[in-house]
Amino acid sequence: MIRAIVLAAGKGTRMKSARSKVLHELCGRPMLWYVLHALREAGVSEIVVVVNEELASEIDGFGVAGVLQAQQLGTGHAVKVALEALQPRAGGRIVVACGDMPLVTQELFAGTIGSLQAAREDAAAMALVTVSMPLPSNFGRIVRRGSRVERIVEARDATPGELAIDEMNAGIYAFDESALRDAVEHLRNDNAQGEYYLTDTVAYFANAGKGVLPVRATDHLHALGINDRVELALARKELNARLCARHMRDGVTIVDPDTTYLEPELAIGADTVIYPNTTISRLSEIGIGCTIGPNARLSNAKLGERVTVRESVVLDSTVGDGVRIGPFAHLRGETQLSDDVHVGNFVEIKKSRLARRVKVSHLSYVGDATIGERTNVGAGTITCNFDGERKNATTIGSDVSIGSNTSLVAPVSVGDGALTGAGSVVTRDVLAGERVAGNPARPLPKK
Ligand code: UD1
Ligand code: MG
Repeated sequence: MIRAIVLAAGKGTRMKSARSKVLHELCGRPMLWYVLHALREAGVSEIVVVVNEELASEIDGFGVAGVLQAQQLGTGHAVKVALEALQPRAGGRIVVACGDMPLVTQELFAGTIGSLQAAREDAAAMALVTVSMPLPSNFGRIVRRGSRVERIVEARDATPGELAIDEMNAGIYAFDESALRDAVEHLRNDNAQGEYYLTDTVAYFANAGKGVLPVRATDHLHALGINDRVELALARKELNARLCARHMRDGVTIVDPDTTYLEPELAIGADTVIYPNTTISRLSEIGIGCTIGPNARLSNAKLGERVTVRESVVLDSTVGDGVRIGPFAHLRGETQLSDDVHVGNFVEIKKSRLARRVKVSHLSYVGDATIGERTNVGAGTITCNFDGERKNATTIGSDVSIGSNTSLVAPVSVGDGALTGAGSVVTRDVLAGERVAGNPARPLPKK
């Protein structure tokens, strides 16, 4: 089994933030989440993260173990601290990566691990990812003799000649465990930064005649380490483009990927069309053939098939097939709309259940309510659910006609087939088939 150490104890000073760098989010997840996700997808199940004090209190939420590095004495020291917390395993292999590389891919990890595994036993001590970065770059340079990797020189310790090398250290490694345990004991900090560099293990192995296997990354963005908020924005753009591309390849039309904001772990059905300025987040699921946007926001929304959401907000809600929402509607608080419901302009629905073919077309507030099939809620209807202390329920039956500008003073119920006249203030329950009007609403003479 392969284990991994993720380095994340650095101070991240260039973020100028009270938060730990790796907790900063892009596309709805902290940058550390992406690194852990890629490792797990590459088959690494046991991961320890080297943390500082701020991060220590938050690491449990990631489902991994944290190891505190109280003083940040360098990447080599960080790995040493992590190894002390890991039970030694004969023949073990350990991946080391940084927590601030959210664009890293599972393929890159898998390729690095595979390269080490493919080597004859004892022939190789480590594999490392190398990459060409646009110059000037702060990345460590890969110094080769012939084709062999001889050492890594950090940019700050490099000569002008070494700085011109355009093969660089991505900061992703797979080590033979016993070789790594030995090498970290021999690191020294006599360099420009006074740190114990993990990268010095390369020269240590090369000098001992042990193989160091370079693995070329084809895309330098995969190795982008986020140091400030400018790089964070760059990485977000790239990640979002990747997410959009994946859904487009799965049959979703995204009119403008530049203004469509997605996250990982969304489900979007084929033939759904997403118009610009749309944000879809928090495990939302969208069925096939839906029309979303422009200007829509979906968060933890579960939509059936052929749903339309135009210029509207749907939060923590579930919506059946053929439902039409918007423009300018707001659903929230575990609202459930059954098939073919219509929620129109300037309507807010909170924590309510609307049965099939209910219509709330204009300017209404429906909160803490259940509404039966085919009922029509007239323009300007308000469920007065709050009495100053408590939220109260409104129950409306099937085939009811709620007149425009009705106020339903909850708790209250309106029976099947009943009717309220325009401007009614309903303070008492209305029986099935009853017709009421006025303020307070009273029964109308029978027809
Ligand atoms: C490191 C590499 C460099 C490589 C680059 C790629 C070293 C010495 N250099 O440089 O060759 O090109 O990554 O991004 O390794 N960290 C700790 N504890 C510490 C120091 C750092 O956990 O004491 C963590 C940081 O949080 C960060 C990672 O290690 O996630 C890398 O550290 P950083 O200081 O940023 O190294 P770089 O200068 O980027
Ligand atoms: Mg860095």
